[in-house]
Amino acid sequence: MGMLQELNYYLKSQSNSIPRYVVEQLVMGLVSGIPSLVGVGLRGIAYKAILKSDGLPLIEHHVRLLSPSNITLGKNVYLDSNVYLNALPGGITIGAGTNLMHGTVFHVFNYRGLPQAGIWVGKNCFFGEYTCIRGQGGVHIGDGVYTGTQVQIAAVNHVYTDPDKYIKDQGITAEGITIEDDVWLASNVVVVDGVTIGKGSVVGAGAVVNKSLPPYSVAVGVPAKVVKDRREASAVRKAVEGQVHFGALEQMRQG
Ligand SMILES: CC(C)(COP(=O)(O)OP(=O)(O)OC[C@H]1O[C@@H](n2cnc3c(N)ncnc32)[C@H](O)[C@@H]1OP(=O)(O)O)[C@@H](O)C(=O)NCCC(=O)NCCS
Repeated sequence: MGMLQELNYYLKSQSNSIPRYVVEQLVMGLVSGIPSLVGVGLRGIAYKAILKSDGLPLIEHHVRLLSPSNITLGKNVYLDSNVYLNALPGGITIGAGTNLMHGTVFHVFNYRGLPQAGIWVGKNCFFGEYTCIRGQGGVHIGDGVYTGTQVQIAAVNHVYTDPDKYIKDQGITAEGITIEDDVWLASNVVVVDGVTIGKGSVVGAGAVVNKSLPPYSVAVGVPAKVVKDRREASAVRKAVEGQVHFGALEQMRQG
């Protein structure tokens, strides 16, 4: 690959066009590092010029955005510091009231021009620190989905059928992942490609979900197995032993 071709490839991975790249880098270069409420306020105004947002987005310092013109944010979306959104074609859509905590990565990873690629997240979701989503096959997440820390959702597999060829040269498959409303993925859960996690399910810490889970499953382990159904009174409607706490955020949402 010639130097110019490499430069062109690099720019395509950063933005939708060269003029956009210049504007985006200028805006982010000027305000992305400013800490405190002043920085949040300035980015709320300035970033409306480079991404689509319903209202002023709440963006902390040192958030990295690639191809921001493919990013759509609902009202009151919160991006904590060091969040990285790489919205290659297919784009990233995040619904109102959703929070991405420190170090969360959403990467569409669509370097192959896959039509199904992209990441779509519903309303009032929460992604714990260092959660990572790869969106080649398309990742569709409903409303009120919660993840613990370091959850991995990877809508891609490498083909490895030919042992005489490098795996990296055998292409990928990318069917997509769907996570329905009101799912809780606890810390360190891994969700592999082709899986649907049904509404209201709970997946225990450290599980690897490689088969679809029916609605209201409680699933644990590697590979994840359903151990109970949340709707069965005997299974989970037991007294909670510890004290249950609510905070201002829950109160605001209920009000
Ligand atoms: C799944 C979880 C919510 C427990 O749910 P629960 O309804 O109280 O389930 P139980 O404790 O009755 O467990 C049911 C069975 O699954 C097993 N199990 C529970 N959690 C497990 C896990 N993470 N990995 C493997 N097995 C697990 C239990 O040992 C039990 O097996 P047994 O019946 O053979 O003894 C909890 O164990 C968990 O993983 N919490 C995640 C904590 C976390 O990541 N917090 C971060 C904040 S988002």
